[in-house]
Amino acid sequence: MQAGTAKPAQRIGVPRETFPGEKRVATVPEVVEKLIKLGFQVAVESGAGDAANFSDDAYRAVGAEIINGAAALWAASDIVFKVRAPSTQEVALMREGGTLVSFIWPAQNPELMQQLAAKKTTVLAIDALPRTLSRAQKMDALTSMAGVSGYRAVVEAANAFGRFFNGQITAAGKVPPAKVFIAGAGVAGLAAIGTAANLGAIVRANDTRAEVADQVVSLGGEFVKVDYEEEGSGGGGYAKVMSEGFQQAQREMYAQQAREVDIIITTALIPGKPAPKLITAEMVRSMKPGSVIVDMAGEQGGNCELTEPGQAVVKHGVTIIGYTDLASRLSKQSSTLYATNLFRLAEELCKAKDGVANINMEDDAIRGLTVIKDGNITWPAPPLKPAATPAPKPAAAPVAQKKSGHGHGSSGPLPAKTLAVIFAVAALVFWFIGAFAPAAFLGHFTVFVLACFIGYMVVWNVTPALHTPLMSVTNAISSIIAIGALIQIAPPEAGMGGRPDELIRWLALAGIVLTAVNMFGGFAVTRRMLAMFRK
Ligand code: NAI
Repeated sequence: MQAGTAKPAQRIGVPRETFPGEKRVATVPEVVEKLIKLGFQVAVESGAGDAANFSDDAYRAVGAEIINGAAALWAASDIVFKVRAPSTQEVALMREGGTLVSFIWPAQNPELMQQLAAKKTTVLAIDALPRTLSRAQKMDALTSMAGVSGYRAVVEAANAFGRFFNGQITAAGKVPPAKVFIAGAGVAGLAAIGTAANLGAIVRANDTRAEVADQVVSLGGEFVKVDYEEEGSGGGGYAKVMSEGFQQAQREMYAQQAREVDIIITTALIPGKPAPKLITAEMVRSMKPGSVIVDMAGEQGGNCELTEPGQAVVKHGVTIIGYTDLASRLSKQSSTLYATNLFRLAEELCKAKDGVANINMEDDAIRGLTVIKDGNITWPAPPLKPAATPAPKPAAAPVAQKKSGHGHGSSGPLPAKTLAVIFAVAALVFWFIGAFAPAAFLGHFTVFVLACFIGYMVVWNVTPALHTPLMSVTNAISSIIAIGALIQIAPPEAGMGGRPDELIRWLALAGIVLTAVNMFGGFAVTRRMLAMFRK
């Protein structure tokens, strides 16, 4: 401890967001506790968490101070954590020489940058984080917000769509699964693919970067290729503008998908460029009535020609949703993720855990984020020194988890020693049975062991998604009862005739009829279920 020179702990202030309709908040009670453990004091403006369901009392309970009014909050804060870039009024409230952490978008907001610089502030723009640094991924709020938004885009589509997503067989008839096409498989697109596939839809996706095809498949989608050879990667996990020939071939493929699918979710983006227009008015007209388009690129002008940014409109019988606040529509979730990203940043800034932020411009991640340092505009940061291998673009975290727990694959193979012991014990048991058991038992036992082995191999190699049809087919097989009944139905042997045998034969007949329903019904249900998996 440097007792004499220690600086006093800084106060992190969290104001209420003022952008119309914004429901997120920059920190949540669970994270406040962690910030306090780093040595910071935390102040929250009264009502800041209301729209995300975090009450003042919840913040107070974990040690935050609640301050009434924005002016008092800004004045009391050494560091301000915010979601949206501050308005002119908010910049006016900011302390001279204070620190701000929020989305800024410096390229789009040069005036805001000048206002902040004039106040001698230090500004960390969370959107300027170098995303290719794997060390920075835990702070990547763009990724966490895009993941939430991709999920919400599917929920919005489901809300506007008049049918189930999954195929169903009901007493009233068969419902085909919805077909969803996702344009652009970046962070938001991958989250949308996982969500739509989990809801049971048939999901197809396209991206100009062929490298994402595997990720699409691993999340349950099908990658639809454009019939034209051209690499679409512009480096750093982003796309580049494609040639006219490619765009023509892509338009033809998209036109065909538009005719076939029920829902289109567009997420295509090339940084710094207007959104590519992928869905033309003609394609919208060709869609089935009741179809839905969710255009996530509304803020960059939209991927669909008919999108009205911020609105949901119905054109040619198709609902076109152009909301630009999808993350805010899932405010509790997005606030929690955003708060965690900012906490990870606070950890990087305060390695000594003494409640004092140290903006180390030698650190690539911090350098990239810092767009103003003590009133000097330091944006854009110099390009990163090329790494040996660029870190892969993070996949959509909430949906990328692999399912486990089906009894295999989750615990890994047994060590060789254990296996050898198991085999030795099993061999001994079999030798013992063979030496002492009666011959009839041995025959049955062999059949039993083989049945267990075959059953294990058959069931364990079936994809979990197909377990339900498998159950129905085994149901049918269990009707082995029929064999017993067939034996009983044989005519009574001489000398054994009489009424009791007649009764057994009738009972056997009833058994055959009932079991036939089970058998043929089981096979019929299996067939129909398997048909649902054929795309
Ligand atoms: P990203 O950069 O991770 O993904 C964009 C993907 O589009 C990339 O994989 C790229 O290769 C692909 N792409 C580019 N041009 C294409 C083309 N012509 N055809 C097919 N694919 C193409 O971006 P992220 O983070 O996934 O965001 C996607 C979009 O969603 C952006 O426009 C972003 O602004 C928007 N967004 C919207 C929100 C809302 O509330 N509406 C919230 C969050 C993000």
